[in-house]
Amino acid sequence: MRLYGSRQTEFLCGLYTGWDAVQSELFQNKDNVGVRTSPQPTRDPVMNKLKFFIISLLVLFLTALFISSQSLLAETQQAKSIEELAARYDCSGCRDCHEENFKAWEKSAHAYSMKGSGKGRTLATFKTLITRGLMTWAYSGVSKPEDVEIKHLMGCAKCHLPQLAEASDDVAREIVKAVWAGDSKAIEKLNIGCLICHQRNAVIHKWTEGYPRKDAVYGTKDSGHEDKAYPVLKKSPAMSESIFCGQCHGLGPGFESDQPTQCATAYGSYLWSYIPEGGTQTCQDCHIRKFGKGHAMPSYRDFDMQDAAADMDVEMIAYHWRKNKAEGVIPLAVVQVAMTNRTGHGIPDG
Ligand code: HEC
Ligand code: HEC
Ligand code: HEC
Ligand code: HEC
Ligand code: HEC
Repeated sequence: MRLYGSRQTEFLCGLYTGWDAVQSELFQNKDNVGVRTSPQPTRDPVMNKLKFFIISLLVLFLTALFISSQSLLAETQQAKSIEELAARYDCSGCRDCHEENFKAWEKSAHAYSMKGSGKGRTLATFKTLITRGLMTWAYSGVSKPEDVEIKHLMGCAKCHLPQLAEASDDVAREIVKAVWAGDSKAIEKLNIGCLICHQRNAVIHKWTEGYPRKDAVYGTKDSGHEDKAYPVLKKSPAMSESIFCGQCHGLGPGFESDQPTQCATAYGSYLWSYIPEGGTQTCQDCHIRKFGKGHAMPSYRDFDMQDAAADMDVEMIAYHWRKNKAEGVIPLAVVQVAMTNRTGHGIPDG
């Protein structure tokens, strides 16, 4: 089950060794004095370096071209309204053939990832972020709610609504308006729907597995798919691995952001605590399959999950103690409680 993770580690180590080799080539053999056991000693080292240089330039040029064409593509695709962004990832059509998954998902936290539980706990926290955070921070560029742009919301949205990265600042303003009006109806259309997990965020290692295709849904195999709008079924190697959930369930503060934010850290504690202690189950094992709850993916609000959360051993001895003459004999108790966390991470989280 852990193969995917170890393959990734090997790849990183491989990359490191590769860099080492490049360094020794570039620096230690600078004057061609190092020990070289090349089978072709007649090769001109200057020509070699020149070739290396030209190829590097070419690669750099092609990469730059690729990145600029990608960002151009992204720019032309920015959604201009909540409606447009919601329509892009609308998954109401999936219900026709996957009713059970749909009904379970509808109840899940993923279906209200911007509104949040209860009356809109997450939405309310967005307001706090703006009033007590962004508007009070000297260098945020936000002095009133209307100044909020997409970049200010991405610190949260990278997990709560990753597709917001494809929206223009008009959408940020629309969201802020809805937040101020407490209008959760407007926001409810924005969520982590079927197409976020089964398409947009289904591929983790995009340089090896390719970028997600717009005509496909991603699952456990490559084949055709009956849905006319998404006629292709592609295999996502990450889908049944913990790393898939980990992309939003938090490793730590998110240092890639100008203002790191910490919310969920379940994946971090899973990797650094549960796995090193010999844990073998994936997020999917416990949250999707173990109790047959499927796409509802429940946690502490579910009784079966609560029961599975911890073992508790309680030992108690009651006795009488003669304290002193004034107070006499008083009843005392010693209570020993041992709690063992049976989940795959620290609890509570977030
Ligand atoms: C017209 C019916 C139909 C619609 C609409 C439909 N599907 Fe499917 N889907 C199927 C069928 C049938 C299969 C089983 C294919 C197989 O096993 O070869 C399937 C398989 C899948 C799988 C793969 C399961 C696996 O083996 O890993 C996923 C994921 C999936 N659908 C997601 C979706 C999503 C997301 C939508 C909405 C965007 C959707 N489907 C819409 C009929 C449909
Ligand atoms: C939070 C991410 C997430 C969302 C949202 C999500 N799925 Fe899935 N889905 C998964 C994962 C992960 C699996 C593989 C589960 C496993 O390993 O057992 C899966 C499996 C499936 C399968 C194949 C297995 C099965 O249960 O039949 C289908 C079909 C499917 N999903 C359809 C949907 C549809 C339709 C929606 C929207 C109503 C949806 N999914 C929303 C993550 C998601
Ligand atoms: C695209 C990001 C994303 C992915 C992928 C994702 N989640 Fe989530 N998940 C969230 C967010 C955001 C919330 C909280 C939404 C809220 O209530 O505001 C959440 C909530 C949950 C909860 C409920 C927590 C609670 O407070 O009750 C569970 C359990 C959960 N996810 C499990 C999973 C599992 C298991 C997977 C992988 C199969 C997964 N998630 C994949 C973003 C994601
Ligand atoms: C060995 C089983 C197991 C594994 C593995 C596991 N979980 Fe959990 N998880 C649970 C149980 C049980 C609960 C309910 C805890 C409770 O009642 O407080 C839970 C709770 C949660 C919660 C709610 C946290 C809270 O505040 O109480 C989230 C979110 C979550 N899990 C996500 C994940 C993700 C993401 C993964 C993979 C990185 C994962 N879980 C792996 C069993 C597991
Ligand atoms: C690393 C990903 C990530 C980031 C960044 C993030 N969140 Fe979360 N957030 C989650 C997940 C996953 C949950 C689900 C519960 C958990 O793990 O405890 C959650 C839960 C919550 C909850 C409780 C939801 C409920 O329904 O009870 C609130 C509120 C919340 N987040 C607000 C925010 C705000 C506001 C920001 C930005 C300042 C933010 N989060 C940043 C992933 C993230």
